[in-house]
Amino acid sequence: MNLLIQDAGRYYREHFGEPDFIVRSPGRINLIGEHIDYNGGFVLPAAIDNAVYVSIGKRTDTKIALYSVDYQEHFEIELTAIQKTQVHWANYVLSVVVTLQEAGYRLGGFNAVVRGDIPIGSGLSSSAAVECAVIFGLNQLLALDLDTMQMVKLAQRAENEFIGVKCGIMDQFASMLGKQDQVIQLDCRSLAYQYFHFQPNEYQLLLLNTKVKHSLADSEYNQRRLDCEAGVAHLNRIFPEVSSLRDATAEMIESELKGLSDDVYDHCLYAVQEIKRVQEACIDLVNEDYVSFGKKMFETHKGLSEMYRVSCPELDFLVTFAGKHKDVVGARMMGGGFGGCTINLIKKEGVTDFIDRASETYLETFGILPGAYPVTISAGTSLVQAQF
Ligand code: GLA
Repeated sequence: MNLLIQDAGRYYREHFGEPDFIVRSPGRINLIGEHIDYNGGFVLPAAIDNAVYVSIGKRTDTKIALYSVDYQEHFEIELTAIQKTQVHWANYVLSVVVTLQEAGYRLGGFNAVVRGDIPIGSGLSSSAAVECAVIFGLNQLLALDLDTMQMVKLAQRAENEFIGVKCGIMDQFASMLGKQDQVIQLDCRSLAYQYFHFQPNEYQLLLLNTKVKHSLADSEYNQRRLDCEAGVAHLNRIFPEVSSLRDATAEMIESELKGLSDDVYDHCLYAVQEIKRVQEACIDLVNEDYVSFGKKMFETHKGLSEMYRVSCPELDFLVTFAGKHKDVVGARMMGGGFGGCTINLIKKEGVTDFIDRASETYLETFGILPGAYPVTISAGTSLVQAQF
């Protein structure tokens, strides 16, 4: 049995007695469509097999008692007195509790043990995984009667309001609704979605982790969102039909936003180009044309690096290196940026050679051995059925 499940059960027993159940909630990748969810376009995420496991059980009082196996740390707080704490990992659990309380749900006390193997700060959305696991667990434990979409939206709200990162809906959606071997094409405006089978015979998805996270990440993220909103507000005065960058065209941006701040212009133009690129990339997927899909990944990286300006030297280095490897057909930074992982689409036979070479030169250049994780696309948030 999965050791993480065992740990989540064992530590719960050591600290609190018998858990009611364990929830598994995965991290996510995103094939293409970066910084597009909050701009109303399409994204192509999938859940992965790295996940967070939360064992959970009721208490008879009004406390929340938590233990993180990974940080080997306890945390306790009264349900009525929750506020953001210095205990970073606990905040993600508390964010969900507060969001539920603010939405009018009356919660009882509970214990939870958190254990996971999603590398933190790597752009794989470990935070969304915790939020989804907790909301799914509380929904079950306290019979809150939330449906899946309500849980996704509340988990996103928890991140937006309590944590303070104005993220879009992609991470929570992918963690909750992932399916084995399927990527999700999500229309972030209507929230309509469809699954695409993704198991190319010849190719492997591979993540390389820069193992850096530059501290500007959260504030710059929120600033990008504001810049895009400023662009939309401006366009909307001239084109009332534009209520998000999904409705805008490159020509509109060229004619109306040039001369405004360079940031607003460049960021909006990137978003409009990326929205179009994802739609074309979906056609490549249907045609199983992975070479053409991979080219678009490189284009996305260029846009994210030069126009959206959310990359960093470490990410640029790994993508440039990937571009020179004969077996890599696509590579780009993934997620919010300023560190974390690159996602690479590579011929299976080249994986080992690429990892070896990339690791060696990255180590030489930055003094860090990067992480390398071949991706397995897995199911979304669910109860663990195994004995624990
Ligand atoms: C982070 C956010 C997502 C999304 C990506 C960029 O992961 O949480 O909502 O905006 O960045 O695509």
